[in-house]
Amino acid sequence: MPKTKSINIGLIGAGRIGSFHGETIARRLVDAELVAISDPAPGAAGRLAETLDVDAAYSGVAEFLSHPGLDAVIIATPARFHTNVVVQAAEAGKAIFCEKPMALTLEDADRAIAAARAAEVPLQVGFNRRWDQSFAEGRAAIDAGKVGAPQLVRSLTRDPGPFGADPDRIPPWTIFYETLIHDFDTLLWLNAGAKPVEVFAVADALIRPDAKEKGFLDTAVVTIRFDNGSIAVAEANFSALYGYDIRGEVFGSAGMVTMGDVRRSSMTLFDQSGVFSDTWRRDTDHFIHGYTAQLASFVQSVRKGKLTQGPTGSDARNALAIAIASIESVSRKQPVIIA
Ligand SMILES: NC(=O)c1ccc[n+]([C@@H]2O[C@H](COP(=O)([O-])OP(=O)(O)OC[C@H]3O[C@@H](n4cnc5c(N)ncnc54)[C@H](O)[C@@H]3O)[C@@H](O)[C@H]2O)c1
Repeated sequence: MPKTKSINIGLIGAGRIGSFHGETIARRLVDAELVAISDPAPGAAGRLAETLDVDAAYSGVAEFLSHPGLDAVIIATPARFHTNVVVQAAEAGKAIFCEKPMALTLEDADRAIAAARAAEVPLQVGFNRRWDQSFAEGRAAIDAGKVGAPQLVRSLTRDPGPFGADPDRIPPWTIFYETLIHDFDTLLWLNAGAKPVEVFAVADALIRPDAKEKGFLDTAVVTIRFDNGSIAVAEANFSALYGYDIRGEVFGSAGMVTMGDVRRSSMTLFDQSGVFSDTWRRDTDHFIHGYTAQLASFVQSVRKGKLTQGPTGSDARNALAIAIASIESVSRKQPVIIA
């Protein structure tokens, strides 16, 4: 039997999540190869290339995109660069996996979608929760009609604390563009086919009130009304001291599914002071299987030449529309109607 051709993948952005995705391609997938890395920070691409036994390291995207035999790219730069890199990669004819958010404006989202469409290249976006076993099974139960008509839908992200980042280095509205964007996609995906019609968001700096004056927000709740009558809530906080807590819930006319568990495993310690479970502390531990499955699926799509499964550019745009409406709602202290 002929051996399946390995898909040649290049990584753009060798930071925290890019390094992890690079490691997934290089070490966890058998039918893909990491062949090149690009990062403008001095030494960043070279260091990761050495760790992962990759021969080619670049500082510029244009030069990187000319790497011989490159089939596809993973974009893991900071969010503000995503759209331009998506367009550049599409114009070079490469299949694209782009971390979320794909864009920060609806115009840029349209630009990214149009570029991938014009080049006829697959474009997948990094909404990894869809690949988590618990969330995938929840969606399957909903599709099988076990929950009935969705009435209340919930998704939450509580990042592991203590929060130690410098608020000055976090771009404005990050809680909506980069954190809750996962929850917005999850709500849309669990409530498949329903369109958001109204958004009301409140947000505050409860962990770092001293940073609020400069626009920093670390806690938010968003209420979303959908055109099928269901009402959804998304919430986020940057410092859950007990661990990395990601959960979802759909309550409907026939029942309810809940998804996600902050406990690391079913190992439970019983001793004289009580009953204890360890918790997830890092996204890359909690979602290692989901992160790997999303890239395995991407590789399959690259092989087939079209996105067969997984979040598309349009899905990224739909989640972004809720993020933008949330920001407007917080700014105006009013509900916002989504056209
Ligand atoms: N899906 C998830 O669960 C998840 C988790 C973490 C981060 N992310 C997303 O991934 C993106 C990156 O996050 P991070 O935490 O890894 O950031 P990071 O700051 O650790 O890394 C970003 C890297 O990109 C490099 N870079 C900057 N401009 C570049 C360019 N034009 N070309 C190539 N490289 C460039 C930087 O030098 C840096 O090494 C963000 O959009 C973030 O929201 C997603």
